[in-house]
Amino acid sequence: EKGGYKHFMLKEIFEQGRSIRETTLSRISLDSAKVFLSEMQITEEEFRSATKINIAACGTSWHAAIAGKFMIERLARVPVEVDYASEYRYRDPIADPHALGLLISQSGETADTLAAQREMMAKGSKTVAICNVVGAALAREAQGTIYTHAGPEIGVASTKAFTAQLVAVFLFALHLAQVRGSVTEDESRHLLEELIALPGKVRDVLRSCDAECERLARVYSSVTDFLFLGRGIHYPMALEGALKLKEISYIHAEGYPAGEMKHGPNALIDEKLPVVVVATKDPKDAGSCLRYEKTLSNIQEVTARSGKVIAVAVHGDEDIAQVADEVIYVPAAPELLLPVLDVLPLQLLAYHIAVRRGCDVDQPRNLAKSVTVE
Ligand code: F6R
Repeated sequence: EKGGYKHFMLKEIFEQGRSIRETTLSRISLDSAKVFLSEMQITEEEFRSATKINIAACGTSWHAAIAGKFMIERLARVPVEVDYASEYRYRDPIADPHALGLLISQSGETADTLAAQREMMAKGSKTVAICNVVGAALAREAQGTIYTHAGPEIGVASTKAFTAQLVAVFLFALHLAQVRGSVTEDESRHLLEELIALPGKVRDVLRSCDAECERLARVYSSVTDFLFLGRGIHYPMALEGALKLKEISYIHAEGYPAGEMKHGPNALIDEKLPVVVVATKDPKDAGSCLRYEKTLSNIQEVTARSGKVIAVAVHGDEDIAQVADEVIYVPAAPELLLPVLDVLPLQLLAYHIAVRRGCDVDQPRNLAKSVTVE
Protein backbone atom coordinates (compact mmCIF):
# COMPACT_ATOMS: atom_id res chain seq x y z
CA GLU A 1 0.00 0.00 0.00
CA LYS A 2 3.02 2.27 0.37
CA GLY A 3 3.86 1.50 -3.24
CA GLY A 4 7.43 0.49 -2.45
CA TYR A 5 8.14 3.61 -0.36
CA LYS A 6 9.32 3.30 3.23
CA HIS A 7 6.65 5.65 4.54
CA PHE A 8 3.34 7.11 3.39
CA MET A 9 4.82 10.55 3.73
CA LEU A 10 7.55 9.82 1.19
CA LYS A 11 5.05 8.21 -1.17
CA GLU A 12 2.81 11.26 -0.87
CA ILE A 13 5.70 13.65 -1.45
CA PHE A 14 6.45 11.81 -4.67
CA GLU A 15 2.78 11.89 -5.74
CA GLN A 16 2.75 15.68 -5.95
CA GLY A 17 3.31 15.93 -9.70
CA ARG A 18 0.18 13.89 -10.26
CA SER A 19 -1.99 15.60 -7.67
CA ILE A 20 -1.14 19.03 -9.06
CA ARG A 21 -1.99 17.90 -12.56
CA GLU A 22 -5.30 16.42 -11.38
CA THR A 23 -6.18 19.59 -9.50
CA THR A 24 -5.50 21.72 -12.57
CA LEU A 25 -6.54 19.88 -15.67
CA SER A 26 -10.32 19.71 -15.58
CA ARG A 27 -10.55 23.39 -14.64
CA ILE A 28 -8.69 25.18 -17.38
CA SER A 29 -8.89 25.71 -21.11
CA LEU A 30 -5.86 26.88 -23.03
CA ASP A 31 -8.01 27.75 -26.06
CA SER A 32 -9.95 30.38 -24.17
CA ALA A 33 -7.22 30.93 -21.52
CA LYS A 34 -9.96 30.61 -18.90
CA VAL A 35 -10.31 29.01 -15.47
CA PHE A 36 -13.63 27.30 -14.81
CA LEU A 37 -14.83 26.71 -11.29
CA SER A 38 -17.84 24.45 -11.56
CA GLU A 39 -20.71 23.88 -9.14
CA MET A 40 -20.63 27.32 -7.58
CA GLN A 41 -23.78 28.83 -6.14
CA ILE A 42 -21.97 32.13 -6.46
CA THR A 43 -22.65 34.21 -9.55
CA GLU A 44 -20.04 35.96 -11.69
CA GLU A 45 -21.60 39.21 -10.50
CA GLU A 46 -20.95 38.23 -6.88
CA PHE A 47 -17.33 37.41 -7.71
CA ARG A 48 -17.07 40.74 -9.54
CA SER A 49 -18.52 42.85 -6.77
CA ALA A 50 -16.80 41.20 -3.77
CA THR A 51 -15.13 43.92 -1.72
CA LYS A 52 -12.96 41.64 0.37
CA ILE A 53 -11.96 38.00 0.76
CA ASN A 54 -11.74 36.49 4.24
CA ILE A 55 -9.68 33.31 4.45
CA ALA A 56 -9.57 31.05 7.49
CA ALA A 57 -7.64 27.80 7.95
CA CYS A 58 -5.41 25.92 10.40
CA GLY A 59 -1.84 24.65 10.35
CA THR A 60 -0.45 23.79 6.96
CA SER A 61 -3.68 24.91 5.30
CA TRP A 62 -3.18 28.31 6.94
CA HIS A 63 0.18 28.53 5.16
CA ALA A 64 -1.62 27.91 1.87
CA ALA A 65 -3.99 30.71 2.89
CA ILE A 66 -1.17 33.22 3.35
CA ALA A 67 0.27 32.28 -0.04
CA GLY A 68 -3.28 32.66 -1.38
CA LYS A 69 -3.42 36.22 -0.09
CA PHE A 70 -0.41 37.07 -2.25
CA MET A 71 -1.98 35.38 -5.28
CA ILE A 72 -5.43 36.94 -4.93
CA GLU A 73 -4.23 40.44 -4.16
CA ARG A 74 -1.69 40.43 -6.97
CA LEU A 75 -3.96 38.97 -9.66
CA ALA A 76 -7.45 40.12 -8.68
CA ARG A 77 -6.60 43.28 -6.72
CA VAL A 78 -9.10 42.45 -3.95
CA PRO A 79 -8.03 42.91 -0.32
CA VAL A 80 -7.59 39.62 1.53
CA GLU A 81 -7.56 38.98 5.24
CA VAL A 82 -6.17 35.69 6.55
CA ASP A 83 -7.03 34.29 9.97
CA TYR A 84 -6.19 31.26 11.99
CA ALA A 85 -9.60 29.60 12.05
CA SER A 86 -9.19 29.07 15.79
CA GLU A 87 -8.98 32.84 16.29
CA TYR A 88 -11.56 34.00 13.80
CA ARG A 89 -14.74 33.79 15.82
CA TYR A 90 -13.27 35.37 18.89
CA ARG A 91 -12.35 38.76 17.46
CA ASP A 92 -15.75 39.97 16.25
CA PRO A 93 -14.57 39.73 12.64
CA ILE A 94 -15.81 42.02 9.88
CA ALA A 95 -17.71 40.02 7.28
CA ASP A 96 -20.86 40.91 5.36
CA PRO A 97 -22.75 39.93 2.20
CA HIS A 98 -20.21 41.81 0.05
CA ALA A 99 -17.27 39.83 1.42
CA LEU A 100 -16.52 36.32 0.22
CA GLY A 101 -15.31 33.64 2.63
CA LEU A 102 -12.65 31.09 1.65
CA LEU A 103 -11.96 28.11 3.88
CA ILE A 104 -8.99 25.84 3.23
CA SER A 105 -8.84 22.37 4.74
CA GLN A 106 -7.44 19.02 3.64
CA SER A 107 -9.93 17.01 5.68
CA GLY A 108 -12.82 19.43 5.42
CA GLU A 109 -13.71 18.40 8.97
CA THR A 110 -11.47 20.64 11.10
CA ALA A 111 -13.74 21.97 13.84
CA ASP A 112 -12.22 25.44 14.03
CA THR A 113 -12.39 25.90 10.26
CA LEU A 114 -16.04 24.82 10.22
CA ALA A 115 -16.78 27.25 13.04
CA ALA A 116 -15.12 30.08 11.10
CA GLN A 117 -17.20 29.18 8.05
CA ARG A 118 -20.41 29.32 10.12
CA GLU A 119 -19.40 32.69 11.52
CA MET A 120 -18.84 34.07 8.00
CA MET A 121 -22.17 32.68 6.82
CA ALA A 122 -23.99 34.02 9.87
CA LYS A 123 -22.77 37.47 8.85
CA GLY A 124 -24.16 36.99 5.36
CA SER A 125 -21.04 36.02 3.39
CA LYS A 126 -21.06 33.23 0.87
CA THR A 127 -18.21 30.76 1.27
CA VAL A 128 -15.97 28.71 -0.98
CA ALA A 129 -14.23 25.61 0.39
CA ILE A 130 -10.90 24.26 -0.81
CA CYS A 131 -10.97 20.73 0.43
CA ASN A 132 -9.51 17.31 -0.36
CA VAL A 133 -12.28 15.01 0.86
CA VAL A 134 -15.37 14.75 -1.31
CA GLY A 135 -18.56 15.44 0.63
CA ALA A 136 -16.76 16.69 3.76
CA ALA A 137 -18.66 18.97 6.15
CA LEU A 138 -16.94 22.11 4.88
CA ALA A 139 -17.93 21.35 1.29
CA ARG A 140 -21.51 20.54 2.27
CA GLU A 141 -21.96 23.92 3.93
CA ALA A 142 -20.13 25.98 1.27
CA GLN A 143 -21.74 27.67 -1.71
CA GLY A 144 -18.91 26.37 -3.84
CA THR A 145 -16.04 23.89 -3.50
CA ILE A 146 -12.74 23.56 -5.29
CA TYR A 147 -11.63 20.03 -4.58
CA THR A 148 -7.93 19.33 -4.44
CA HIS A 149 -7.64 16.03 -6.25
CA ALA A 150 -4.67 14.86 -4.18
CA GLY A 151 -6.22 11.51 -3.24
CA PRO A 152 -6.22 10.16 0.33
CA GLU A 153 -3.43 11.58 2.46
CA ILE A 154 -2.40 9.07 5.12
CA GLY A 155 0.73 10.67 6.58
CA VAL A 156 -0.27 13.01 9.40
CA ALA A 157 2.12 15.65 8.05
CA SER A 158 0.41 17.23 5.06
CA THR A 159 2.44 17.29 1.84
CA LYS A 160 0.57 16.55 -1.39
CA ALA A 161 -2.63 18.13 -0.08
CA PHE A 162 -0.67 21.32 0.62
CA THR A 163 0.77 21.77 -2.86
CA ALA A 164 -2.65 20.94 -4.32
CA GLN A 165 -4.12 23.67 -2.08
CA LEU A 166 -1.58 26.13 -3.46
CA VAL A 167 -2.72 25.26 -6.98
CA ALA A 168 -6.41 25.44 -6.04
CA VAL A 169 -6.07 28.86 -4.45
CA PHE A 170 -4.07 30.00 -7.49
CA LEU A 171 -6.96 28.89 -9.74
CA PHE A 172 -9.40 30.72 -7.47
CA ALA A 173 -7.25 33.88 -7.71
CA LEU A 174 -6.96 33.67 -11.49
CA HIS A 175 -10.66 33.01 -11.91
CA LEU A 176 -11.49 36.01 -9.75
CA ALA A 177 -9.04 38.12 -11.76
CA GLN A 178 -10.60 37.02 -15.04
CA VAL A 179 -14.12 37.79 -13.89
CA ARG A 180 -13.00 41.19 -12.66
CA GLY A 181 -10.94 41.98 -15.75
CA SER A 182 -7.73 42.57 -13.84
CA VAL A 183 -5.62 40.20 -16.01
CA THR A 184 -5.27 40.25 -19.79
CA GLU A 185 -5.88 37.18 -21.91
CA ASP A 186 -2.16 36.99 -22.67
CA GLU A 187 -1.20 37.07 -19.01
CA SER A 188 -3.79 34.39 -18.26
CA ARG A 189 -2.56 32.17 -21.06
CA HIS A 190 1.04 32.53 -19.93
CA LEU A 191 0.15 31.63 -16.34
CA LEU A 192 -1.93 28.65 -17.45
CA GLU A 193 0.92 27.38 -19.62
CA GLU A 194 3.23 27.69 -16.63
CA LEU A 195 0.69 25.86 -14.47
CA ILE A 196 0.59 23.03 -17.00
CA ALA A 197 4.41 22.87 -16.93
CA LEU A 198 4.45 22.68 -13.12
CA PRO A 199 3.97 18.91 -12.58
CA GLY A 200 7.01 18.18 -14.78
CA LYS A 201 9.10 20.63 -12.76
CA VAL A 202 7.83 19.09 -9.52
CA ARG A 203 9.00 15.67 -10.68
CA ASP A 204 12.39 17.10 -11.66
CA VAL A 205 12.86 18.69 -8.24
CA LEU A 206 11.87 15.53 -6.39
CA ARG A 207 14.23 13.47 -8.50
CA SER A 208 17.16 15.87 -8.23
CA CYS A 209 16.79 16.94 -4.56
CA ASP A 210 16.05 13.73 -2.72
CA ALA A 211 19.64 12.51 -2.41
CA GLU A 212 20.83 16.04 -1.65
CA CYS A 213 18.32 16.41 1.18
CA GLU A 214 19.33 13.02 2.54
CA ARG A 215 22.94 14.16 2.58
CA LEU A 216 22.02 17.39 4.37
CA ALA A 217 20.01 15.35 6.88
CA ARG A 218 23.19 13.43 7.77
CA VAL A 219 24.95 16.73 8.49
CA TYR A 220 22.16 18.46 10.40
CA SER A 221 20.03 15.77 12.05
CA SER A 222 21.49 16.22 15.52
CA VAL A 223 20.99 19.97 15.94
CA THR A 224 18.49 21.30 18.47
CA ASP A 225 17.11 24.26 16.52
CA PHE A 226 16.47 25.31 12.94
CA LEU A 227 15.42 28.60 11.41
CA PHE A 228 13.52 29.00 8.11
CA LEU A 229 13.41 32.36 6.32
CA GLY A 230 11.64 33.73 3.28
CA ARG A 231 10.17 36.96 1.97
CA GLY A 232 6.91 37.74 0.21
CA ILE A 233 5.01 34.68 -0.94
CA HIS A 234 8.02 32.57 0.08
CA TYR A 235 7.59 33.53 3.71
CA PRO A 236 4.64 31.13 4.24
CA MET A 237 6.83 28.40 2.68
CA ALA A 238 9.44 29.11 5.35
CA LEU A 239 6.69 28.70 7.94
CA GLU A 240 5.68 25.43 6.33
CA GLY A 241 9.28 24.16 6.27
CA ALA A 242 9.55 24.88 10.00
CA LEU A 243 6.21 23.23 10.77
CA LYS A 244 7.11 20.07 8.80
CA LEU A 245 10.41 19.78 10.62
CA LYS A 246 9.05 20.32 14.12
CA GLU A 247 6.06 18.04 13.76
CA ILE A 248 7.89 15.01 12.44
CA SER A 249 11.45 15.34 13.82
CA TYR A 250 10.63 17.15 17.11
CA ILE A 251 13.45 19.60 16.42
CA HIS A 252 12.54 23.11 17.48
CA ALA A 253 12.14 25.19 14.33
CA GLU A 254 10.89 28.66 13.58
CA GLY A 255 9.85 30.28 10.36
CA TYR A 256 10.36 34.02 9.99
CA PRO A 257 10.01 36.68 7.33
CA ALA A 258 13.67 37.26 6.45
CA GLY A 259 13.44 41.03 6.86
CA GLU A 260 12.30 40.68 10.47
CA MET A 261 15.54 39.01 11.59
CA LYS A 262 17.21 42.26 12.52
CA HIS A 263 14.33 43.09 14.84
CA GLY A 264 15.20 40.35 17.31
CA PRO A 265 15.86 36.83 16.01
CA ASN A 266 19.39 37.71 14.80
CA ALA A 267 20.35 37.26 18.44
CA LEU A 268 19.74 33.51 18.04
CA ILE A 269 22.34 33.05 15.32
CA ASP A 270 25.56 31.25 16.06
CA GLU A 271 27.71 28.65 14.32
CA LYS A 272 25.44 25.84 15.47
CA LEU A 273 22.25 27.22 13.94
CA PRO A 274 21.25 26.00 10.47
CA VAL A 275 19.18 28.62 8.64
CA VAL A 276 17.18 27.49 5.63
CA VAL A 277 16.53 30.43 3.33
CA VAL A 278 14.00 30.29 0.51
CA ALA A 279 15.77 32.43 -2.08
CA THR A 280 14.14 31.47 -5.36
CA LYS A 281 13.24 34.11 -7.95
CA ASP A 282 11.54 34.60 -11.26
CA PRO A 283 14.26 36.26 -13.33
CA LYS A 284 11.58 37.80 -15.62
CA ASP A 285 9.74 39.53 -12.78
CA ALA A 286 11.21 42.80 -11.48
CA GLY A 287 9.35 42.60 -8.15
CA SER A 288 10.57 39.06 -7.61
CA CYS A 289 14.18 40.06 -8.38
CA LEU A 290 14.02 42.96 -5.92
CA ARG A 291 12.67 40.66 -3.23
CA TYR A 292 15.47 38.21 -4.04
CA GLU A 293 18.16 40.92 -3.70
CA LYS A 294 16.86 41.71 -0.22
CA THR A 295 16.89 38.02 0.64
CA LEU A 296 20.55 37.82 -0.46
CA SER A 297 21.48 40.56 2.01
CA ASN A 298 19.57 38.69 4.71
CA ILE A 299 21.70 35.62 3.93
CA GLN A 300 24.85 37.72 4.32
CA GLU A 301 23.60 38.93 7.69
CA VAL A 302 23.31 35.30 8.81
CA THR A 303 26.70 34.19 7.52
CA ALA A 304 28.38 37.28 9.01
CA ARG A 305 27.18 35.93 12.38
CA SER A 306 28.55 32.43 11.59
CA GLY A 307 25.11 30.88 10.97
CA LYS A 308 25.01 28.01 8.46
CA VAL A 309 22.86 28.85 5.45
CA ILE A 310 21.07 26.24 3.35
CA ALA A 311 19.50 28.15 0.46
CA VAL A 312 16.80 27.08 -1.97
CA ALA A 313 17.45 28.88 -5.26
CA VAL A 314 16.66 28.59 -8.96
CA HIS A 315 18.95 26.88 -11.47
CA GLY A 316 21.37 29.30 -13.06
CA ASP A 317 21.62 31.52 -9.98
CA GLU A 318 25.36 32.10 -9.69
CA ASP A 319 25.29 34.66 -6.88
CA ILE A 320 23.76 32.38 -4.30
CA ALA A 321 26.63 29.90 -4.13
CA GLN A 322 28.94 32.79 -3.14
CA VAL A 323 26.96 33.53 0.01
CA ALA A 324 25.28 30.27 1.11
CA ASP A 325 26.95 27.20 2.61
CA GLU A 326 24.67 24.81 0.76
CA VAL A 327 22.34 25.41 -2.18
CA ILE A 328 19.42 23.28 -3.32
CA TYR A 329 18.35 24.18 -6.85
CA VAL A 330 14.85 24.16 -8.33
CA PRO A 331 13.65 25.28 -11.80
CA ALA A 332 12.48 28.86 -12.33
CA ALA A 333 8.75 29.61 -12.49
CA PRO A 334 6.50 32.68 -12.16
CA GLU A 335 6.69 34.21 -8.68
CA LEU A 336 3.18 33.10 -7.70
CA LEU A 337 3.86 29.47 -8.64
CA LEU A 338 7.38 29.20 -7.22
CA PRO A 339 6.10 28.25 -3.72
CA VAL A 340 5.01 24.89 -5.12
CA LEU A 341 8.67 24.22 -5.99
CA ASP A 342 10.20 25.97 -2.93
CA VAL A 343 8.45 23.72 -0.48
CA LEU A 344 9.49 20.37 -1.99
CA PRO A 345 13.09 20.36 -0.68
CA LEU A 346 11.78 21.55 2.69
CA GLN A 347 9.45 18.55 2.86
CA LEU A 348 12.26 16.18 1.89
CA LEU A 349 14.67 17.74 4.37
CA ALA A 350 12.17 17.34 7.22
CA TYR A 351 11.46 13.77 6.13
CA HIS A 352 15.09 12.65 5.98
CA ILE A 353 16.00 14.35 9.25
CA ALA A 354 13.06 12.68 11.01
CA VAL A 355 13.98 9.28 9.58
CA ARG A 356 17.59 9.68 10.75
CA ARG A 357 16.35 10.58 14.22
CA GLY A 358 14.30 7.40 14.29
CA CYS A 359 10.95 9.22 14.49
CA ASP A 360 7.63 7.78 13.42
CA VAL A 361 7.18 10.12 10.45
CA ASP A 362 3.71 8.94 9.47
CA GLN A 363 2.32 9.08 13.02
CA PRO A 364 4.06 11.84 14.96
CA ARG A 365 3.42 11.88 18.71
CA ASN A 366 0.48 13.92 20.07
CA LEU A 367 -1.01 14.64 16.63
CA ALA A 368 -4.12 13.49 14.78
CA LYS A 369 -4.82 13.63 11.06
CA SER A 370 -8.16 15.30 11.52
CA VAL A 371 -8.78 17.72 14.39
CA THR A 372 -12.49 17.61 15.10
CA VAL A 373 -12.47 19.41 18.44
CA GLU A 374 -12.17 23.16 18.91
C1 F6R B 1 0.52 19.74 9.35
C2 F6R B 1 -0.88 19.40 9.30
C3 F6R B 1 -1.85 20.22 10.10
C4 F6R B 1 -3.11 20.46 9.29
C5 F6R B 1 -4.17 21.16 10.16
C6 F6R B 1 -5.40 21.52 9.36
O1 F6R B 1 1.27 18.92 8.53
O2 F6R B 1 -1.27 18.49 8.62
O3 F6R B 1 -1.27 21.43 10.50
O4 F6R B 1 -2.80 21.22 8.18
O5 F6R B 1 -4.52 20.35 11.24
O6 F6R B 1 -6.00 20.38 8.85
P1 F6R B 1 -7.02 20.44 7.66
O7 F6R B 1 -6.27 20.94 6.47
O8 F6R B 1 -7.55 19.07 7.49
O9 F6R B 1 -8.08 21.44 8.06
